[in-house]
Amino acid sequence: MVVGNWKMSPETLTRARDIFRAVSRQSKLFKNVDIVICPPTLYLGLLKKSANKNFFLGAQNVFWQNDGRFTGEISPEMLKNLGVSCCLVGHSERRALDETDEDVSRKVNGALREGLRVVVCVGERERDSNGVYFEFLKSQLKRSLAGVSSRSFSNIVIAYEPIWAIGKSFRDSMAPADIRETSIFIRKVLSDMYDQKIAAAASIIYGGSVEPENIAAVLKEGGVTGVLVGHKSLVPEDFISILKSANEFK
Ligand code: PGA
Repeated sequence: MVVGNWKMSPETLTRARDIFRAVSRQSKLFKNVDIVICPPTLYLGLLKKSANKNFFLGAQNVFWQNDGRFTGEISPEMLKNLGVSCCLVGHSERRALDETDEDVSRKVNGALREGLRVVVCVGERERDSNGVYFEFLKSQLKRSLAGVSSRSFSNIVIAYEPIWAIGKSFRDSMAPADIRETSIFIRKVLSDMYDQKIAAAASIIYGGSVEPENIAAVLKEGGVTGVLVGHKSLVPEDFISILKSANEFK
């Protein structure tokens, strides 16, 4: 799975359409990869989705209720009705705007009820030599997934994104061996929360400065089943190159 998170870019619908079209057109070449593009919400209904079965539209955020008076919010049902099949929840940049684990769990459950695939983002701000970040991660996972049953877990993707590795270059990304160690830790937490079978089958993806230069190593040595790509998802040539490597890996 390769998810492109456009964040609050690009500035114009014309540019959004250009990037989207470039990726969408090539998507059929990468049949081994589930490709999810998450543009800003405003553009979701305006980008023409290709018919390719491995190409999906995703939202960057969602509200937990389907109706009520919630100015400025977007419901899971609205997304579903627009043909959006996936959404990110709890990205660190949203958590930095005061989104709590409790908000995240409400959103996760609301989106799951509507049948959306939910990419739940977790990740530590920094690593310390005492391994406190492991405790942090465990608590973040448990609280963000509160209320998610074993049955609905099949629609969950865990995106592990260490905040310190986001928005840099592949040289400052996390070392694949460390990604592997963390993905094993996440499976262990999931095994405690659910069971070993669910933990073993869980989709865990990595995000944080994934670029054409490190995608192959991340997939080969990182123990993850995909990646969440930020800045490079806005550069069609680079994003396509990432998709190509991911497709070859399978
Ligand atoms: P990045 O962003 O690829 O620019 O590091 C990843 C993310 O924030 O999802």
